[in-house]
Amino acid sequence: MVSSWPRKLTTLPPSILLLLATTIASVTAADTSSISYTGTISTLSTYSASAFTGSQYTYPTLSSALPTTLNTNNASSIIIVSSNSPSNATATGSSSKSTTKPSRTTLHGSSHRSTGTATTSAAGPSNTVKCNGWTEFCDRSYSNITYVCAHNSAFVVPNNAGSNQALPLRTQLDDGIRMVQGETHYVNGSIYNCHTTCKLLDVGLWEAELATVVDWLKDNPYEVLSWLVVNSDFVNVEKYVPAIEASGILPYLYVPKHEPQYRDDWPTLGEMILTGKRVVMYMDYNANQTAVPYILDEFSHMWETPFSPTNRSFPCTQQRPPGLSHADAKNKLMYLANHNLNTPIDLSALIGETDGHAQILIPNTADINITNGAFDQFSQLEATRLNCTQMWDHPPNFLLVDYYNYGIPHPGSVFEVAARANGVAYNYDSCCGKTSASLASASMRVSLAAVLVGALGFSILLVL
Ligand SMILES: *[C@@H]1O[C@H](CO)[C@@H](O)[C@H](O)[C@H]1NC(C)=O
Ligand SMILES: *[C@@H]1O[C@H](CO)[C@@H](O)[C@H](O)[C@H]1NC(C)=O
Ligand SMILES: *[C@@H]1O[C@H](CO)[C@@H](O)[C@H](O)[C@H]1NC(C)=O
Ligand SMILES: *[C@@H]1O[C@H](CO)[C@@H](O)[C@H](O)[C@H]1NC(C)=O
Ligand SMILES: *[C@@H]1O[C@H](CO)[C@@H](O)[C@H](O)[C@H]1NC(C)=O
Ligand SMILES: *[C@@H]1O[C@H](CO)[C@@H](O)[C@H](O)[C@H]1NC(C)=O
Ligand SMILES: *[C@@H]1O[C@H](CO)[C@@H](O)[C@H](O)[C@H]1NC(C)=O
Ligand SMILES: *[C@@H]1O[C@H](CO)[C@@H](O)[C@H](O)[C@H]1NC(C)=O
Repeated sequence: MVSSWPRKLTTLPPSILLLLATTIASVTAADTSSISYTGTISTLSTYSASAFTGSQYTYPTLSSALPTTLNTNNASSIIIVSSNSPSNATATGSSSKSTTKPSRTTLHGSSHRSTGTATTSAAGPSNTVKCNGWTEFCDRSYSNITYVCAHNSAFVVPNNAGSNQALPLRTQLDDGIRMVQGETHYVNGSIYNCHTTCKLLDVGLWEAELATVVDWLKDNPYEVLSWLVVNSDFVNVEKYVPAIEASGILPYLYVPKHEPQYRDDWPTLGEMILTGKRVVMYMDYNANQTAVPYILDEFSHMWETPFSPTNRSFPCTQQRPPGLSHADAKNKLMYLANHNLNTPIDLSALIGETDGHAQILIPNTADINITNGAFDQFSQLEATRLNCTQMWDHPPNFLLVDYYNYGIPHPGSVFEVAARANGVAYNYDSCCGKTSASLASASMRVSLAAVLVGALGFSILLVL
């Protein structure tokens, strides 16, 4: 019953687009709990989660923005010294996490040695203080920074059209990616990083990805990271808790003071580093901050531009969440720019379908250098920064990109665009995954004409 498919694929979340392609190929997924889809092209599936619009989800409303009792880290007791008055970074006393006495701890924007004693459980301030790579950021609110987000960070499988990145997660973080993002599925009682379905692209347990990040956090004590979890199966958020607890990331997870916590209400990176709460985790659907306070509801904290764009015009218009007023989008929430260009692959001919619904989206790798470019013509990432800033008075907080290590005029162009947004200088020399560059370009070449095989049960030659 092809006719019952949604007519406009572009109104669906990305996971659903790929799900449709899976359905086309008669894949039976017995392993999702809230979306069941079985059968073949002629006996289509049921989407029990009515997952298509997002409008059935309830978002904390603006009027519910009352202070909650989640003030566990006593951020207010931390005093940040302005970088305009140079002095040493000092930590006098301990964070109130480990003492009952109010304390004063400082970490500020100038590079000086610490003269105090830090007894926070995280590594304390010492030597040169750079927060996320720049001393200027220590004093800056978390919500006043533009970060580069690696779309589907975990999908780094060479020669697979379902991949979105060439370099592994650790390299992504070393290069400057500061938002990890990706699709997750609930299979056999655990959360997996899988694209569309674990039968198509399965890169393993989510817990392993968390553990990789924990190792990196330990090695990089002055870095604040965001993580956007795509709950593709719309499962209860509590299903994510065991992996979080087992991975060791829990002590790093930031719990906001308010729900939702608006742009003007976030702590500085310096505060987050000093309290050790350096990872902000969001979930797109089914977050419940009452049940799991450290997984934030994405769409009450940020909105997104249209997802999975296939048109390189990349409009900076607001798409999700539905119903958010322009004023609130502009003044209260952060925002994420989806800047990953996709190519629709039409499967119609393969399955005898004629009305153009049988599409699968894959990253447009042929144009990736332009898409990620730091020039302002051709609607590149730089153009998005400029247009978005013009429309919303501030640049996107998150620039979501595929294959972040490609771009013009240099690899690292995506970080240059972010640096411009942040008003800081960027040096290409540190980018991108120098040691594995040849491997990366090899896999990129192959993906230009990649063969997608797997659960689909047939092969598609992708000619981009
Ligand atoms: C620390 O937080 C607790 C609540 O968690 C509050 O009762 C206390 O007054 C706070 N202390 C300071 C110094 O803010
Ligand atoms: C602290 O700052 C003072 C002057 O601002 C400087 O003379 C001193 O060397 C600094 N201490 C350290 C440990 O850097
Ligand atoms: C951060 O604040 C500065 C100064 O107000 C502003 O120019 C910039 O657009 C802000 N950036 C973001 C991402 O909000
Ligand atoms: C889930 O369990 C089934 C049956 O043991 C197995 O075939 C499948 O590979 C498992 N899925 C994943 C993602 O490990
Ligand atoms: C969120 O979790 C709380 C506490 O477990 C529960 O009472 C509430 O019903 C949940 N809300 C939703 C929308 O599931
Ligand atoms: C892409 O977007 C532009 C601007 O909105 C529009 O003029 C153009 O027709 C679109 N192209 C396609 C192929 O949809
Ligand atoms: C982006 O800005 C450029 C230059 O100002 C303009 O020509 C273009 O139409 C803008 N694109 C969008 C989608 O607003
Ligand atoms: C992207 O640009 C680099 C040079 O920066 C070049 O080596 C590479 O072949 C280009 N890739 C594509 C897909 O155009």
